[in-house]
Amino acid sequence: DTARFALDPDFSVGRVDPRLFGSFVEHLGRCVYTGIFEPGHPAADADGLRVDVLELVRELGVTAVRYPGGNFVSGHRWEDGVGPAEDRPRRLDPAWRSTETNRFGLAEFAAFLKKLGPHAEPMMALNLGTRGVTEAVELLEYANHPAGTALSERRIAHGSEDPFGVRLWCLGNEMDGPWQTGHKTAAEYGRLAAETARAMRQIDPGLELVACGSSHRTMPTFAAWEATVLAETYELVDHVSLHAYYEETDGDRDSFLASAVDMESFIEQVVVTCDHVGARLKSEKRITLSFDEWNVWYQRRPNPHPVEDWQEAPRLLEDVYTVTDAVVVGSLLIALLRHADRVAVACLAQLVNVIAPIMTEPGGPAWRQTTFFPFAQASRHGRGTVLDVRVDAPTYATRRYGDVPLLHATAVRNEDGGVTVFAVNRAQDRELLLKVALRGLELTRIVEHSVLADPDPEACNTAADPGRVVPRLVDGGALGDGVLEVVLEPLSWNVIRLA
Ligand code: AHR
Repeated sequence: DTARFALDPDFSVGRVDPRLFGSFVEHLGRCVYTGIFEPGHPAADADGLRVDVLELVRELGVTAVRYPGGNFVSGHRWEDGVGPAEDRPRRLDPAWRSTETNRFGLAEFAAFLKKLGPHAEPMMALNLGTRGVTEAVELLEYANHPAGTALSERRIAHGSEDPFGVRLWCLGNEMDGPWQTGHKTAAEYGRLAAETARAMRQIDPGLELVACGSSHRTMPTFAAWEATVLAETYELVDHVSLHAYYEETDGDRDSFLASAVDMESFIEQVVVTCDHVGARLKSEKRITLSFDEWNVWYQRRPNPHPVEDWQEAPRLLEDVYTVTDAVVVGSLLIALLRHADRVAVACLAQLVNVIAPIMTEPGGPAWRQTTFFPFAQASRHGRGTVLDVRVDAPTYATRRYGDVPLLHATAVRNEDGGVTVFAVNRAQDRELLLKVALRGLELTRIVEHSVLADPDPEACNTAADPGRVVPRLVDGGALGDGVLEVVLEPLSWNVIRLA
C-alpha cells in the first residue's frame, strides 16, 4: 500500500503556539501528592518536589500547565492553599470524594513551574461552580498585584515577594456537565463568565481568558452551549475550551485508531460555531481554541486499586498505557497540529499518575509511560509553521467513523529550515509506503526516522520494566529528486526529520 502527500512552504496552516504542548495538574488522586510533590521521598528537594519527576517533566517538554482542576476546582477555595502549611484546612473534595490536605497550593505550584524552566507557564482555573466574581478578582489580586494592597501584601507575608504573573485564566471548568459542582445552564454560565471576565479585565486588560465550551462533543448541549456562552462573552474572552477523551471499546481497535477523526471534526465544528457567533455580532475578532483536556482515558474500566471514600491521594485514574494508546496519542497530537491556525492552547490531561505520561510509586521510582514519547517528540520537533498536508491514502473500514485513511500525518517547518513529518500508520497488519513530494524546500537528507511500534500492541512500561517500550531509529528511507520515501510499520507512530 502506498500513501502520499506533497509539501510546499507556500501552503501552510499556521504557526504553532508553544502552548499547544500544555499539560494539566489537578488535585486528583496522586497527581500532586506522591506525584510531583512528596516531602520525605529520597528524590525530594527542599520544597518537597520530586526531582526525578521534575527531570521527566522537563524532558516531556510541557509549556502551559493548567491547575488546580478539573472537577476539583469547582468546589475549591483558593485561600485554603496559601499561607503557612500547618494552618491550612483539611477539606472534603466532593468532586473526587477524597480528603484534600491543602499542603500543596498556589506558591508550591509556582515553585514547581519555576523549576521547570522559562518555557513553563501557569494556566489558572477559577472556581465558577460554587464561587464567582469576587473570589476571582481576589485571587487575581493575590496572585498578580505587585504590592501595596491587602491581598498582595498577604502574598508577600506568605513568603512570595514576586507576583506569580498568571496571564492565562480558565473561567471555570466543564460548567455544562451535570457532574460539575455548581453546574449551570449555558445562559447562567454565560452571564457569570462575562461578568467575571469584565471584572478581571478592569484590573488587567491584558489577561488571556478561556470560556468553558463543552465537556465533550457528545454532550446534548454541544454547539448550542458554545453559541449561547459566546453570545455573552465574545468580546471579553480570547479562547473557548474543548475537552475530549478516547478509549478502545468492545475490542474495536480499528475505530480507536481513528479517534483523531472525531477530534478534528470536533475542532472544526467549534471553529464554525465561534465564527457564526462572530458573524452575528458583526465582530472582526476571531476566537481561538483551548483544547485544555485531551487524552486516552479508559473511563469504562473498573478501578483495579482498592479505594475508600475520603482517602488522601487515592489511586484514581491510574491508566497504564500500551503501544496502541501511544499511537493514538500521537495521532491526536497530529490532529492538534493540523489545526494550529485555531488551536492556541492544548493540555494533555494529566501530567503525573492520573491518566498521565509519567508514573511514580510513593517512596519509589518514576518512569515514562508509552504515551510520554509521542508528546515529548512532538513538543521538541513540532515547533515552527505547520504545512498544509492533504493525504492521499488507502482507506480502511471502521465501525464508528466509516472509511478512514490508513495514514494520518502532518508536517512542521522548523525554525532552522528543516521539516519534521509526523505520521501514524493506522493499519494493524500491514506496512505503508509513504511518498512525500517536497516542493520549494531545499531538503537533502533524512536526519532521523524514529518509530514507536511493537510486535505486541499491548506492550507497556511498568515499575518492574520501565524501559520495555521506547522509540527506536530505523534506516531504509530515501530522499532524492525532491521525493521522500519511507516505510511505516504497522500500527506505528513515526517522526521523520529532514534537513
Ligand atoms: O481529567 C480528569 C477530569 O476529566 C477532570 O477533572 C474533568 O475536568 C474532566 O471531566
